[in-house]
Amino acid sequence: MKKILTVIGARPQFIKAATISRVIAQYHSDKIKELILHTGQHYDQNMSDIFFDEMNIPKPDFHLNIGGSTHGEMTGSMLTELEKIMLQEKPNLVLIYGDTNSTLAAALSAAKLHIPVAHVEAGMRSHNKKMPEEINRVLSDHVSTLLFCPTEVSANNLKKESIEDNIYIVGDVMYDAVLFYNKNSKPSPIVSDIEPGFYLATCHRQENTDSKENLVQIFKALTELSKKKNVVLPLHPRTKKYIEKYGIDTSGLTLIPPVGYFDILNLLKKASMVLTDSGGLQKEAYYFKKPVIILREETEWTELVDNQVGILSGANYEKIISSELELSNLTSFPKNLYGDGNSAKLIMEHIKSYI
Ligand code: UD1
Ligand code: UDP
Repeated sequence: MKKILTVIGARPQFIKAATISRVIAQYHSDKIKELILHTGQHYDQNMSDIFFDEMNIPKPDFHLNIGGSTHGEMTGSMLTELEKIMLQEKPNLVLIYGDTNSTLAAALSAAKLHIPVAHVEAGMRSHNKKMPEEINRVLSDHVSTLLFCPTEVSANNLKKESIEDNIYIVGDVMYDAVLFYNKNSKPSPIVSDIEPGFYLATCHRQENTDSKENLVQIFKALTELSKKKNVVLPLHPRTKKYIEKYGIDTSGLTLIPPVGYFDILNLLKKASMVLTDSGGLQKEAYYFKKPVIILREETEWTELVDNQVGILSGANYEKIISSELELSNLTSFPKNLYGDGNSAKLIMEHIKSYI
């Protein structure tokens, strides 16, 4: 029996990991044992446990309870604890997702112990080193053994950085998740009571929340749009903190607490447009055939912009307003920009052959 240690800690990682855990349980449980480690980076019930419950993710075998601190403190504490567990469990492979501090801590711990690392969402680049995520993903890729890229662009990014071996283009595991969970996703009353046709917004990127100027511009634009359409915004705890700190007026918007996966799928279904700085949600908008305004200067998911289903607005009031006008009549969406929904199966075939 081979042993895989999956390391997750933040909301999008629970969603991505759910798809692969399900494939391991369904097709590989005779040969592969998956141990799940939750770093604790996200810890509120509606940022963590709700995803394990709704998506049937096995209960973590290890929980580090490390969250809510600075980048260095968080990453360092994770590194210390991860090393102990990896030495004790001696996994054949460590499986990591995306670009959070939990991703980097796991990649570094494993690489230093000469444990192979498999990185899901390898090669994504914004080419903006001010983003903590860009640092996490570049460093993680350079110590990973198996690199699972969602797109050709991401695979080419790795080649440009002289990473040549074990690169596999496998599509996006988040598309697998949408296809699988959308069938059975029952919304909670807070979501089912909202009339369809609204604009769904989320905002949590550090470069937007930590800059008063950026956050003010974004909320000013959302408030302006709310005169035309209801703007529904599930509020990330980081953003809540900064809205309060800067005294930003949100009275025109429908603010709700962060929601679980079933609710976000239902919100996506009923929305007519999405405005977001989230990596995950911008693609999900496309999966639900909704235009997306990306509240950032650049995106790793360049295909959305190249295919004109998304516009990069930055945190610029005028650009957000003009993008809404430009996208409001969009009806045509290209097919399968991010695979065909079998990404988790493909990834596990490669992992099985490797270990
Ligand atoms: C992290 C990731 C980001 C990802 C996002 C997903 C890094 C560097 N950033 O950003 O890439 O897009 O998760 O949502 O890893 N907080 C709570 N409760 C929680 C979680 C967070 O109150 O359950 C608050 C705390 O005040 C915390 C702050 O939010 O300090 C930020 O959390 P943190 O995990 O550091 O970063 P995110 O902004 O969530
Ligand atoms: N999401 C969710 N509830 C919310 C907001 C987002 O379930 O209230 C989902 C979203 O649909 C996507 C994932 O969380 O699947 C994205 O996470 P987030 O935006 O926090 O991080 P990013 O993708 O930017 O790293």
